[in-house]
Amino acid sequence: MAFRVLFSMAAWGLLALVLVVEPHGVHSFGRGWFGPRKGVVAPPEAGICAASVLPYGYKCQEIEVTTQDGYILNAQRISGGRTGRGSGQKKPPVLIQHGVLVDGMTWLLNSPEENLPMILADNGFDVWIANTRGTRFSRKHKALDPSRPRFWNWSWDELVTFDLPAVFDFVYKETGQKIDYVGHSLGTLIALASFSEGRLVNQLKSAALLSPIAYLSHMNTALGVVAAKAFVGEITTLFGLAEFNPKGEPVANFLKGLCAYPGVDCYDLLSAITGHNCCLNSSTVDLFLKNEPQSTSTKNMVHLAQTVRHGILAKFNYGRPDYNVLHYGEASPPVYNLSNIPHNLPLFISYGGRDALSDIRDVGLLLDSLKHHDVDKMTVQFIKDYAHADFIMGVDAKDIVYNAVVSFFKHQH
Ligand SMILES: *[C@@H]1O[C@H](CO)[C@@H](O)[C@H](O)[C@H]1NC(C)=O
Ligand SMILES: *[C@@H]1O[C@H](CO)[C@@H](O)[C@H](O)[C@H]1NC(C)=O
Ligand SMILES: *[C@@H]1O[C@H](CO)[C@@H](O)[C@H](O)[C@H]1NC(C)=O
Repeated sequence: MAFRVLFSMAAWGLLALVLVVEPHGVHSFGRGWFGPRKGVVAPPEAGICAASVLPYGYKCQEIEVTTQDGYILNAQRISGGRTGRGSGQKKPPVLIQHGVLVDGMTWLLNSPEENLPMILADNGFDVWIANTRGTRFSRKHKALDPSRPRFWNWSWDELVTFDLPAVFDFVYKETGQKIDYVGHSLGTLIALASFSEGRLVNQLKSAALLSPIAYLSHMNTALGVVAAKAFVGEITTLFGLAEFNPKGEPVANFLKGLCAYPGVDCYDLLSAITGHNCCLNSSTVDLFLKNEPQSTSTKNMVHLAQTVRHGILAKFNYGRPDYNVLHYGEASPPVYNLSNIPHNLPLFISYGGRDALSDIRDVGLLLDSLKHHDVDKMTVQFIKDYAHADFIMGVDAKDIVYNAVVSFFKHQH
């Protein structure tokens, strides 16, 4: 049970935290790295290529990308599949962006036949995996140390403004080609926000958005709702400007408090939070728990909570009109207007019927804000039985989602 509970939490921010109320859960993160899965031969300290890609016979390169605000991000490039298909010709680049409180390794936990990066590599794509600032391999900065509060002074606005553009620029320069993008969860939100501001679109060929979040106001879990309130109200004073480390004690205590709220059931979180994931492999879940969750900034969690509460996609709200004026020149934070996404940008959107985080009503709002999109540039897939984590780790995600993503990308070439 601990696994199932923990897993659900790690799949998205609010949840990852609750692992602390499960006594076994904490220990499960501390277990050895040499899991049952054959091929995971290197400890993660050696990097994602060594731990999760090279053992399977794929070419993989560790990359460092520096953002304009000084963060040094880690990325992986899988430039060759086992089949050698597509070698010799110019391979189209794909950039894969994970969600919040996980890192790029989550894409690689299923077998090579089942995971998205390797399926793309086997199909002749030049695959790039991003790792957001603050996660295990992206905790470097030109001047700041992660032990300093100022290292954590960012929300997903900065992922829109700095992280994504830095990685896009890098991939674009290296490959000389426009990029196909895949995002999951927060990886969809930051992409949509970027595109709405006209960022990246000149370097972008198409985008596949899995388990999309843009609007979060229908997130239908008691814990999520309580947490969202607490994040805005209490957490800033409680944690200040700081790392939000799901494995740390302050966060643990904070969550214990939330779980004591009436109506919040921290025991059956799997279905209560991410929704009921239909199709996870227990070995993969095991591996997941050895690798995740990852830190983010408290400010990022607060910003996400604001999105839940306000039902509108806007920049970080400093909580007081005069502070907002100071930052934005306006009393309210500027809105990301999704109608401004170029109408001819090829989009593939895949969402699940049991996803409690990317609730179908919120996806409905997203689709509504894209209603003027060119009809032939938009593919929407609805998977009745899928919840949030099935999109990254479902054993049948290849058949249901990834093959569709591959043919969508090939269709653009
Ligand atoms: C945090 O960043 C904001 C702007 O993004 C800045 O106004 C503020 O002074 C920063 N705070 C600290 C403590 O560095
Ligand atoms: C689950 O993972 C194990 C370990 O990698 C693997 O042997 C098994 O085939 C997987 N099951 C499915 C249904 O993919
Ligand atoms: C978003 O932009 C569209 C046109 O691009 C405009 O009609 C609409 O009013 C804008 N919405 C907001 C909330 O600003």
